[in-house]
Amino acid sequence: MLTKKWSVDNADPMKMNYPQLKEAAALLQQEEVVAFPTETVYGLGANALSDQAVQKIFEAKGRPGDNPLIVHITKKEQLTGLVDNLPQVAEKLMDAFWPGPLTLVLKSKGSVSRYVTAGLDTVAVRMPDHPVALALMEVAGLPLAAPSANLSGKPSPTSAAHVDEDLNGKIAGIVDGGSTGVGLESTVVDCTTEIPVILRPGGVTKEQLEAVVGEVGVDPALTSQDQAPKSPGMKYTHYAPVAPVFLVEGGLDFLKSTVHKAQNDGKKVGLLVTEETKSQMGEAGDVMLACGTRSDLSTIATNLYDALRAFNATDVDIIFSETFPKSGMGAAIMNRLEKAAGHKVIKER
Ligand code: TXA
Ligand code: MG
Repeated sequence: MLTKKWSVDNADPMKMNYPQLKEAAALLQQEEVVAFPTETVYGLGANALSDQAVQKIFEAKGRPGDNPLIVHITKKEQLTGLVDNLPQVAEKLMDAFWPGPLTLVLKSKGSVSRYVTAGLDTVAVRMPDHPVALALMEVAGLPLAAPSANLSGKPSPTSAAHVDEDLNGKIAGIVDGGSTGVGLESTVVDCTTEIPVILRPGGVTKEQLEAVVGEVGVDPALTSQDQAPKSPGMKYTHYAPVAPVFLVEGGLDFLKSTVHKAQNDGKKVGLLVTEETKSQMGEAGDVMLACGTRSDLSTIATNLYDALRAFNATDVDIIFSETFPKSGMGAAIMNRLEKAAGHKVIKER
């Protein structure tokens, strides 16, 4: 399949790029799948109401069929066609964070394709905060089911080049709107329970949610590996580069000695660190990538997936990553790092 590519200006996608968006929207209306930028990561969109279109998403990504998709909308009014019951907490969260990196799990009306919900009686919905995503859906006149536009198991794409790397030849088109901003996926919150529960940490932090609705729970599966997660996608290994990743918990000297040990064993070592650590590591490791500053964790979120992918273009045998406190954006960053590492941690005693 030939993958069409359009470049779309973020500043005013409607005015500047109407012909490009019309072409992309027409493909979506013809049950094809098209990748598009959101503020979190690139999504792989298809008409959420069409079985045929949604099945193509699973085929292109190699995604397991039991992992449901998020439905993207442009207006709150679209919710009445999608969900059965809108609890007050959900309304409050929408008012505070939409458009934005927050996905709400709600009782499904059963109007979207059964492949979207993977047989669950709930549906996940979000309104992305990206002018190109909103304009594309507006022109197509469709709610779009969209997972991250990567091959299953790879890091999510934060640029059109990442999407191209994974899906060229497998999808109808890619709308290039530049690099995404947040860099990690949306926070998924289950609103079908008395107290809302975070199923996946993401772009909106627990602290931010609690400031709006009070107590917010966390799916126990996020902190214990013995529990089955309520968000089916959370059970799969994810975000992994080719070389194995190890999280290194300890001081700078411990990180240095861990690197030396691996090099003495004949390994080429990749280091995933902050600017602060990089400036103190000297020549340690074979490839050192700094993905942001410790003083502003949102910069780490923005660049993390790009850095994980960048190691694939190097010949490192092993990757050591520094770790972060699990509060604020640190919760989402550590969730993705732990998955990339398959929970392999080297601790200083
Ligand atoms: O930021 C994002 O959320 C990006 C952009 C493209 O919007 N999308 C994204 O989609 O990350 P995906 O498919 O990679 O992750 C969706 C997550 C999965 O963990 C899935 O299991 C969960 O949401 N999910 C979807 N529907 C659900 C439901 N009804 N109940 C519980 N979890 C659900
Ligand atoms: Mg994904």
